[in-house]
Amino acid sequence: MMRAAMLDLAAPTDSGWLPRALADLDEILVDHAHCEKKAASTAVSLLFRYPDEPALLPALSALAREELRHFERVLAALRARGLRFRRQVPSPYAAELMRAVRPDEPARLLDTLLAMALIEARSCERLALLAGGVADDALAALYRDLVESEARHHRAYLDLAAGVAGAAAVRERLRVLARHEAEVLARAPAMSRLHA
Ligand SMILES: [Fe+2]
Ligand SMILES: [Fe+2]
Repeated sequence: MMRAAMLDLAAPTDSGWLPRALADLDEILVDHAHCEKKAASTAVSLLFRYPDEPALLPALSALAREELRHFERVLAALRARGLRFRRQVPSPYAAELMRAVRPDEPARLLDTLLAMALIEARSCERLALLAGGVADDALAALYRDLVESEARHHRAYLDLAAGVAGAAAVRERLRVLARHEAEVLARAPAMSRLHA
């Protein structure tokens, strides 16, 4: 089991989330595909925003490729259940989380990397819950696999943040942003989403 504290999360997922997610698993799966695609897109957008940060480029490129492979795996899981990928109203979680990112550089880069680390951490925690809760063995195996990857992505974003701002700044700012992340989740509307 992936513990919230290991992932730098300020609060664990409440006990009501998993039963709600399992009761609406098709909707969760579609949202999950969107999340993987968005994770790739964010990594690519950072490649464009920070071309002069050489330490970021190979790591972000690798992350983007890996998230697109995850996207393809979740699409395959959708197909296996007879579901189609479709548009969905996103959870306000990511946009709300990003509101805490300070607007001016270099703070903006540090905060963005830490926000991404927290999104990866929350994904990891929730995929671990799903892995332990779904009846479908193939789906449980996919979730277990992705838990490993998202935990690694959490570390990768933290390492990038430490590289640009130093370990002390990361520790201090991560505490603030992790509290914000938990507050965003606590007031998120009840939706069948990975981050709601
Ligand atoms: Fe992923
Ligand atoms: Fe990820």
